[in-house]
Amino acid sequence: MKEWWIQVGLLTVPFLAVYLHIPPPNFSPALHTWRSSGTFFTFRGQQIFYRDSYGAVGSSDVVILLHGFPTSSYDWYKIWEGLMQRFHRVISLDFIGFGFSDKPRLHRYSILEQASIVEAMISHLGLSDQKVNVLSHDYGDTVAQELLYRYNHKRTGHINIGSLCLSNGGIFPETHYPRLIQKLLKDGGIFSPVLTRLMNFYFFYKGMSEVFGPHTQPSEAQYWDMWTALRTNDGNLVIDSILQYINQRKKYRERWVGALINASVPLHLIYGPLDPVNPHPEFLDHYKTIIPKSTFTVLDDHISHYPQLEDPTGFLNAYLHFINSF
Ligand SMILES: *[C@@H]1O[C@H](CO)[C@@H](O)[C@H](O)[C@H]1NC(C)=O
Repeated sequence: MKEWWIQVGLLTVPFLAVYLHIPPPNFSPALHTWRSSGTFFTFRGQQIFYRDSYGAVGSSDVVILLHGFPTSSYDWYKIWEGLMQRFHRVISLDFIGFGFSDKPRLHRYSILEQASIVEAMISHLGLSDQKVNVLSHDYGDTVAQELLYRYNHKRTGHINIGSLCLSNGGIFPETHYPRLIQKLLKDGGIFSPVLTRLMNFYFFYKGMSEVFGPHTQPSEAQYWDMWTALRTNDGNLVIDSILQYINQRKKYRERWVGALINASVPLHLIYGPLDPVNPHPEFLDHYKTIIPKSTFTVLDDHISHYPQLEDPTGFLNAYLHFINSF
């Protein structure tokens, strides 16, 4: 029993982790404004946050924005006004487990469920018969691929997709390189509950700053907003479950890549080429080969994984150009 202190040390870790479970930071005024301009609907007993803004008169076009991991609908704040000048309705949601939505523990998070949540929201908003344009990023790309699959196959409850614009995301598992922190949390096994509790602003900041270009880094206040949204409703504690989407992409590769190959709606890709998760030129070459009918926009060399935040003007122009092309 010489090593009794090791055992005591190991026993202390979970208690320490519980102890470190400090309350989330307060909302900044900007984040508070975002939250109060949205509302909630209920999906299978869970509260889902969404925003639905009425924009340009004289247009009946609707756009729905699907955000990435591990952030939220707040990713779209820089292009929201610009979209409102073109669209009649601009709609976004926080997926379950993200942003201001509920984040149930002991829940099997899945892309399939997220797609059902989007369909439920569209139905809730009375838009089931209306064509909707889908604009997605990262994790949202995968949800969009599932929505497209259901649309292609006329599945009950499917949304009527008018067009799909993807941006930097793991569209193909074979050209996707998850960050170390994602792999650690995804495959942490019994350590995941400790790791997710030990996550703090510093680790979050380190991880996120790697997927923004060096010249397009968010301000510290913006990083705090992202972290605050994540920490709301103890979101850090469900990250390991959400991250199983990386395995789901492999499992459903044929279905989700096939949905793009088989799509009959206009497709576009907006790509920040400095992305370490979906690197250039490997990702783009692969995309062009597999989905030749899609058009694409490559943003400036210094734009990385969050193009709508790093180059909102370039991103918005590329999107509007696509929308006005069909
Ligand atoms: C794509 O279309 C082919 C031919 O119609 C079909 O066999 C295949 O199942 C479709 N794939 C998906 C994922 O929808």
